[in-house]
Amino acid sequence: MLVTGAAGFLGSHLVAELLARGHGVIAVVRPRDGRSGLERLTALRDDFGWDGAGPPAGLEVVEGDVDQPWLGLEPTTARRLAASVTEIVHAAALVEFSERRRPELEATNGRALEHFAPLLADSGAGFTLVSTAYVAGVGSRTAIEKPAEEPPPPFRNAYEESKHLGERIARRCLSADGVPWRFLRPSIVLGASGDGRTHRFDTIYRFLQLLDGLQGAAEERGESLRLRVRCQPESVLDLVPVDYVTSATAALVERPDARGVFHLTSADPLTLDELAQRLAPLFPLVHLEAVDEAAWRRSPPDSRERLVDRALVSYRGYLDGGQGFDDRRTRSALRGTGLTCPPVDSAWLTRLVDYARAVDWGRSRTLPRSTTGDLGFAQTFFDRFLAGRAGSELLAGAPRLTTRFEVRVVDLPGFRRVLDVEKGELRAVGPGGPPARFRYDLESSVLRGVATGQLDPRDAFFARRAEIRGDVEEALRFAALMVDFFRRSPFPGAHGAS
Ligand SMILES: NC(=O)c1ccc[n+]([C@@H]2O[C@H](COP(=O)([O-])OP(=O)(O)OC[C@H]3O[C@@H](n4cnc5c(N)ncnc54)[C@H](OP(=O)(O)O)[C@@H]3O)[C@@H](O)[C@H]2O)c1
Repeated sequence: MLVTGAAGFLGSHLVAELLARGHGVIAVVRPRDGRSGLERLTALRDDFGWDGAGPPAGLEVVEGDVDQPWLGLEPTTARRLAASVTEIVHAAALVEFSERRRPELEATNGRALEHFAPLLADSGAGFTLVSTAYVAGVGSRTAIEKPAEEPPPPFRNAYEESKHLGERIARRCLSADGVPWRFLRPSIVLGASGDGRTHRFDTIYRFLQLLDGLQGAAEERGESLRLRVRCQPESVLDLVPVDYVTSATAALVERPDARGVFHLTSADPLTLDELAQRLAPLFPLVHLEAVDEAAWRRSPPDSRERLVDRALVSYRGYLDGGQGFDDRRTRSALRGTGLTCPPVDSAWLTRLVDYARAVDWGRSRTLPRSTTGDLGFAQTFFDRFLAGRAGSELLAGAPRLTTRFEVRVVDLPGFRRVLDVEKGELRAVGPGGPPARFRYDLESSVLRGVATGQLDPRDAFFARRAEIRGDVEEALRFAALMVDFFRRSPFPGAHGAS
């Protein structure tokens, strides 16, 4: 089998599953942050229990880029690889919901699907696309396992739209060349059913991390709090464990006759109301309630509820109308394998949160560790632009706020600045000092986006482009105030900042 996106979340679990089932795997990985494809994949050794320093037996790693024709390889090499496997499983994609990334989403998740037909023609191999159940778009009807609708339905975001485009292009190109295809459509994939293990901590994990922060703060204060979340409480949120998705994928690709569309979704998905109830024992001091728009308006939200509501902005489409998915074709194809999707029960949710807590919500993994950050920009921004504003009002919306926080620019080793705010005024910007209440870890490109007002720091956190340590609630509240500051006083850019 040849697997693209093999260093990603689903791709790496799938590689491990295929190897465990005795298949040889050619993994396509692009080099990144100074690490080769091979180094990136073997770094996952501990996650999958692979012995030794090199790749496990049966695994070959090839560096490639799916955005390029022939996956960026020599055409003869690409054809030879395709002819040496029975199936290409395409799990590489850009998984981001931001409208700003639409051009890249359309290229990687859409047009890149044109690159497979020439590679596969006459190879004898089939093609499996890891798509998403959410190509169904916005709708209240249960989505069924059939090719993407034409004309396309309305979508919640550019990601869903790009995956729908990818399915359409793949079907057109592959059918024209007689290549057998299947589209696998997982819903929202979370950690393993047995131990909660994952290395992807976005989507619902950021929300759980926020709840964990609120629970910690409530414990410190010795009091509980009420947290209403604005949504359609009857809306369905379909969650599946990664081990079900990868075992079902492996079982289906082992059956050359199982072709067409398959939903890898929950057999018994929860409504948001039910999910809130099942999360309750995990965060006993946070009384979580899913409420509809009318109830939200009847009793105006407090500042904490508004903060969480804003934090969930990218996921609004899933809170205000998520449908269920019919998986009859999948269940029929998996009959006899013993594979069924485990239920979303409190035991699994507890394992997910326990694992996430044990690995500090994936903080050590989510940001790259390259050393090629823009030192000049970071110094100019903190030491000239911000330091030049010491003594002036920083936070118009919070004249009484006094706090100390730290910013670390992770692609500039050792670069940190501590900022003191007193009664809404910036007092000092320096390289050290007493412990801060919270800390932001980000790359210099994210710092630039925030400083120039192009990136909201709260969105950076939810898109895994920034990390928060310490008091998450205060850090997000502060981030909201900074958005207002950068709107009033934008950093003029590296050139005009002197
Ligand atoms: N996670 C979910 O909940 C979920 C749900 C439904 C469907 N899916 C689908 O499942 C698949 C895998 O998603 P995931 O969650 O595992 O995402 P992921 O962790 O971000 O993995 C995607 C992988 O694709 C690689 N990739 C992106 N562009 C590439 C390019 N031009 N050339 C080569 N490799 C490239 C990425 O490489 P880098 O690491 O170098 O960036 C990354 O390793 C995607 O098709 C996604 O749409 C995911």
